[in-house]
Amino acid sequence: MPSHTFSVNGKSVTVDAPDDMPLLWVLRDLLGVRGPKYGCGIDVCKACTSHLDGRAMNPCVVPVSDADGRNVTTIEGLADGDKLHPVQEAWLDQDVAQCGYCQPGQIMAAVALLRRTKNPSDEDIDAIANVCRCGTYFRIREAIKKAASMMQ
Ligand code: FES
Ligand code: FES
Repeated sequence: MPSHTFSVNGKSVTVDAPDDMPLLWVLRDLLGVRGPKYGCGIDVCKACTSHLDGRAMNPCVVPVSDADGRNVTTIEGLADGDKLHPVQEAWLDQDVAQCGYCQPGQIMAAVALLRRTKNPSDEDIDAIANVCRCGTYFRIREAIKKAASMMQ
């Protein structure tokens, strides 16, 4: 069985897994990192959105071999100790979550957007393709704008 070494939320991990095992399976089932959610498994719902070297990716369609030597960040790695990321603060202020299932992915997508674009337009925000079955899109938009202003 091939061995894979990479960083998850700042800690080096080594796992034995087939090269083509989806990174989401490795995170959730082998490493117990359960923030990234399983929804579709085919890069549609984006519930699993996490970051690879700081960029948003959907680990349900990323083979574990692609993570070798790289940095994976999940929702668990976003806060700085007890200090929440501004996007997490804004999410709480706007009371965004309903059932919460999609929210780790939504937050990770929002953080990636704000890294690319400091002042995202409604169009930029609406281009986030993460699905929310509870329909929290309006509050997500408000929270992203609030986070953008907090991060100025
Ligand atoms: S589980 Fe749906 S995009 Fe990954
Ligand atoms: S909060 Fe329920 S799916 Fe988005």
